[in-house]
Amino acid sequence: MRRSRAILTVLTSGALAAGALTVLSPSAEAATTLGAAAAEKGRYFGTAVSLNRLSDSTYSTILNREFNMLTAENEMKIDALEPQQNQFNFTTADRLITRANEIGAQVRGHTLAWHSQQPGWMQSLSGTALRNAMKNHITQVMTHYKGKIHSWDVVNEAFDDSNGGRRDSNLQRTGNDWIEDAFKTARAADPAAKLCYNDYNTDNWSWAKTQGVYNMVKDFKARGVPIDCVGLQSHFNSGSPYPANYRTTLENFAALGVDVQITELDIEGSGATQATTYGNVVRDCLAVARCNGITVWGIRDTDSWRASGTPLLFDGNGNPKAAYTAVLSALGGGTSSPSPSNPGSVSPSVSVSPSQGTGACAATVSVNAWTGGFVATVTVKAGSAALGGWTTGVTLPTGAAVTSTWSATASGSTGAVSFTNVGYNGAVAAGASTSFGFQGTGNPPSGTLTCTAR
Ligand code: XIL
Repeated sequence: MRRSRAILTVLTSGALAAGALTVLSPSAEAATTLGAAAAEKGRYFGTAVSLNRLSDSTYSTILNREFNMLTAENEMKIDALEPQQNQFNFTTADRLITRANEIGAQVRGHTLAWHSQQPGWMQSLSGTALRNAMKNHITQVMTHYKGKIHSWDVVNEAFDDSNGGRRDSNLQRTGNDWIEDAFKTARAADPAAKLCYNDYNTDNWSWAKTQGVYNMVKDFKARGVPIDCVGLQSHFNSGSPYPANYRTTLENFAALGVDVQITELDIEGSGATQATTYGNVVRDCLAVARCNGITVWGIRDTDSWRASGTPLLFDGNGNPKAAYTAVLSALGGGTSSPSPSNPGSVSPSVSVSPSQGTGACAATVSVNAWTGGFVATVTVKAGSAALGGWTTGVTLPTGAAVTSTWSATASGSTGAVSFTNVGYNGAVAAGASTSFGFQGTGNPPSGTLTCTAR
């Protein structure tokens, strides 16, 4: 709330100083790229980059246009940077820094200490020799890139998949303190970089692995071990689906006093289902002030490490998918409505009690509200028959106004407002649901939402 006021004050005095309110109109246009839309929310939107694809013009064009945070998909891993012990090869990875500088993007470093993609010489080390080699690698690499990296994945994937404890690895066998040793070494090498712990299957709050990582971060914060962020890889598929409690997980990590970054997002699937999940992930991040940004793990489906699952935002021809539109829309971009202030800075979160709709669908709303504004997320659920389209309606309190809408079209902005599906989320199978949202000023809606099937 304080932050929103500060922004408003700056804009107002800027407009007056310029002597014309029209100076505000450019900022009232919705952003049309992922990076720009995220930036308006105080966040970044990134992608993994495979350096050998930069010569592909379709790939490069999308990269340059859409993203403002870059991660090397493989080129900053241990085997790539230190192929022989203490002989470093930065040539390829340096090209990522160059490209980032050319397009005004930042770089996430990935990754300094990991059981996987170790060079042969490291795989055969153990004990003190391995521990020292790990620390030397961290120091040399971070010194080379000093001042050029937004956040480093200092340690990657150190937890066991099922029991909440540590994963067995040559690094783990050097002693349980290897992770804190890595973080302390990293802080000394580049004090300006944010230091992250990064892992997968840490999205579902009730999973033991999530709890294991949470407890480690809590312990590090309690004992003053330097850690600034937690990376959730968020590779979603049928075996590891997007969980309904994802926002809770983000909130709980953030409450430990660390930033949260979604670092390797991909969601297997297609069409409306995939688009809805992508939108949900973005809205979850926006709802948590310390969720800094989102990185997708590749550009086109054909670039993905899991290409057969078509998990990315662009198809093989470089055309944006429904998932792209959902992400851009959730970020507040892509339409001509004014961009709202940052909902991530708000608190506390309140819930409006769910309400039943009429006819063959039901609409329920959950609201994040703060003094002067709110974000409402609405779930539309089909009854026993499939929906071809839907319209939900709500009456806003006096003085309230809708300022932006995603994944639906609003009939107006004040009083009785109805929201109708957009192209990709009109069809809802029997018993299934989809969601949309809107942001507004004034008091949030309360009471009944109607739902009409079409
Ligand atoms: C993957 C890359 O996408 C592949 O190209 C490579 O063959 C293997 O690694 N977790 C991580 C990433 O932290 O580094 C992995 O990237 C995907 C899972």
